[in-house]
Amino acid sequence: MEKQEIRTFGRRHGKKLSARKQWLMNNLLPALAPSATDTNTAILEIGFGAGEHLRELALANPTKTVIGAEPFANGVAALLGAITDADNRLLPEYENIRIWPDDVRIILRENKTKFDQIWVLHPDPWPKARHEKRRLLQKEFLELLAGRLAPNGEIIIGTDHWGYFDWITQRAAEASLVFETPDLDIIRTRYQAKNMAETTAPKYIVIKNS
Ligand SMILES: C[S@@+](CC[C@H](N)C(=O)[O-])C[C@H]1O[C@@H](n2cnc3c(N)ncnc32)[C@H](O)[C@@H]1O
Repeated sequence: MEKQEIRTFGRRHGKKLSARKQWLMNNLLPALAPSATDTNTAILEIGFGAGEHLRELALANPTKTVIGAEPFANGVAALLGAITDADNRLLPEYENIRIWPDDVRIILRENKTKFDQIWVLHPDPWPKARHEKRRLLQKEFLELLAGRLAPNGEIIIGTDHWGYFDWITQRAAEASLVFETPDLDIIRTRYQAKNMAETTAPKYIVIKNS
């Protein structure tokens, strides 16, 4: 993260990892680093939490590389635990997963991959007015993401915080991006299940490459 960039995520570490998960962090995670030189298009999920949706993406798109970015170590460790067998070997159906265990903005600077899909499910809403600057989906960030879409690519954003939903649509409009707000049927992530915003359902914004 560059000095002037505002931190958009909360804590990086939660409770102490089990010995198995710490082993996976030390030994498997480095092998799953995204390639900086791969010129194929890929799929990106930003802030994958515990990775339940990222795993769905990997299974649904076996010929695509699916990159997940998440700075919360316990989330990364949860994903590693779910994509490996009892002998800590990567399950074959998840061989297309790559993990960036840090701020996505760093990898977007370092890696020039174009994306068919960019997913952002339940970005931290930072509901207090004084924290608004910590929201990830600022106009400039949406522009950056849109510039990284492959032809026909799309950015899919979902949030159960309807105030943040309205705010993001305003930022997308300010950036003159083409977007729709369809109803989507997507797996319920761990954060969604908490329903901290106490709304009836998530709302979605799909930004198209124009
Ligand atoms: C509210 S949680 C939602 C997690 C997951 N998508 C879900 O629905 O369960 C938001 C996640 O975004 C991550 N995040 C925030 N800023 C980020 C950034 N700049 N790069 C990558 N991930 C980020 C946080 O660490 C956090 O895990």
